[in-house]
Amino acid sequence: MKARKLLIGIAALGLATTLAACSGGRGGAGTEAEPGSNDGALVGIAMPTQSSERWIDDGNNVVSQLEELGYETDLQYANDDIPTQVSQIENMIAQGAKALIVASIDGTTLTDVLESAASQGIPVIAYDRLINGTENVDYYASFDNFRVGVQQGTSLLTGLGVLDAEGNETGEAGPYNVELFAGSNDDNNATFFWDGAMSVLEPYLEDGTLVVPSGQTEFEQASILRWLPENAQDRMENLVTAGGGAQLDGVLSAADVLSVGIIAGLNSSGQYNADNFPIVTGQDADLGAVKSILAGEQYSTIFKDTRELATVAVEMVDALLNGEEPETNNDTDYDNGEKVVPAFLLDPVVVTADNITEVLVDSGYYTEDELQ
Ligand code: GAL
Repeated sequence: MKARKLLIGIAALGLATTLAACSGGRGGAGTEAEPGSNDGALVGIAMPTQSSERWIDDGNNVVSQLEELGYETDLQYANDDIPTQVSQIENMIAQGAKALIVASIDGTTLTDVLESAASQGIPVIAYDRLINGTENVDYYASFDNFRVGVQQGTSLLTGLGVLDAEGNETGEAGPYNVELFAGSNDDNNATFFWDGAMSVLEPYLEDGTLVVPSGQTEFEQASILRWLPENAQDRMENLVTAGGGAQLDGVLSAADVLSVGIIAGLNSSGQYNADNFPIVTGQDADLGAVKSILAGEQYSTIFKDTRELATVAVEMVDALLNGEEPETNNDTDYDNGEKVVPAFLLDPVVVTADNITEVLVDSGYYTEDELQ
């Protein structure tokens, strides 16, 4: 990241010097990328929902980083409603946005509005979630989503004691009862998380170390539409009832928002206490989830630093608006049906009670006080 910033900084230094000569441009060249002629340019940021903490952090981080570079911003949340998101993006275009950063609700529903953006030369960055079925998405800023799933599957096995902290088999053969919860089937990430997790879990399902009492081992059966905690809770309660009192040892949960519903469902069954609570995974290091890990309910989460993701997206926008090519590190894996979208993928990190301080507090993501 530092090297990328430096490169952009150096490129911007030349541009800023030229512009300063003719327009009295902003000083401070060499500290951060200079927006030059884009000073005051509007960037539209479309986020899916405020119901998960991570998107609130994402929105705030993108706005503050763009504003530091002199851009104006229009940040909108769509309450997980697809027509709302479409009309918010239409408004951004109508207001003269020079670039768009979009975390889609349903990755396939933005074709028309992005056609309109493209016809006006407005570049589009897909933020965290790939936008599918359109040529008119220029770059993709995300995390290594398959790896997120691998980490989730691995931490389920670690929590159960099948693997040790180094990822080596302990010889524990179970059988362990687990249920599987996947993300929304209209979110491109959800299949990446699932495929990553199943790449780790499948051998243990095949040899009987893991047993799924419901038999629901297909993505479509495990998927929770719109990632809604209430849908996860309903499914968990149904699975507990159908299980007729059989104890679960673990639950693969694709995100913290699902874990909230899963844990509520487990608790409402009255079958679990601190001694037999199942291993529940997650993703996003939402504050509530981190507290739940500290309280001994949720077992793990995956930390995806939204500050870094915001930086990637902001640098992409800034490069494009300065006529430069954004840096990418994956130009093969994210085919949206119309093209392979060049991506920059960040590394996710597994968090359990053992490394919360090291990963989340020492990095300044949360303060000790927030975790109380
Ligand atoms: C995914 C995202 C996850 C999680 C989930 C639910 O697209 O990658 O980090 O937030 O949506 O919001």
